[in-house]
Amino acid sequence: MGIRSASHAARWITIGATVLLAPLAMAAGRAPTAQECAAHPTNPAVQGGCIVINRKLGNCMACHVIAGTTMDGNIGPQLKDLRAHFPNKAALFAQVYDPTMNDPHTAMPPFGKDRILTKAQIREVVDFLWTL
Ligand code: HEC
Repeated sequence: MGIRSASHAARWITIGATVLLAPLAMAAGRAPTAQECAAHPTNPAVQGGCIVINRKLGNCMACHVIAGTTMDGNIGPQLKDLRAHFPNKAALFAQVYDPTMNDPHTAMPPFGKDRILTKAQIREVVDFLWTL
């Protein structure tokens, strides 16, 4: 391979990596940072993560370990692999909206039923949880 074609190939590799990594840079698999919350105001999965870690909204890390947070709540299970635990987003929405439907004695607050979060907020929370 000549020098020109080598640098040509390197450029395409760089472009390919940028294209592949761009969506991953937005919070997939972990809670977003404050900068990411500000930088992606219309991305539902990012904004859902911002709601989850907001102490006046979800405050979910008070009870759950969530990648990207350090509070390490241990009242509930770690939030991860939720696509394996719930058949679809609707079932996950139901768990956040009203967990007493799955377990009448749960310690988890019914975020939708008690109007702690709106349905729109819970939809974003679910989009975020689906990335974990
Ligand atoms: C006061 C503690 C508490 C808070 C706050 C809390 N949870 Fe929970 N959560 C629990 C407990 C306990 C469970 C275990 C199952 C049950 O009791 O319903 C649970 C279970 C879950 C599950 C099912 C996990 C699985 O793998 O099956 C999800 C999803 C979940 N919580 C999401 C959330 C989200 C999102 C928030 C914030 C909006 C939140 N929780 C806030 C206590 C809490």
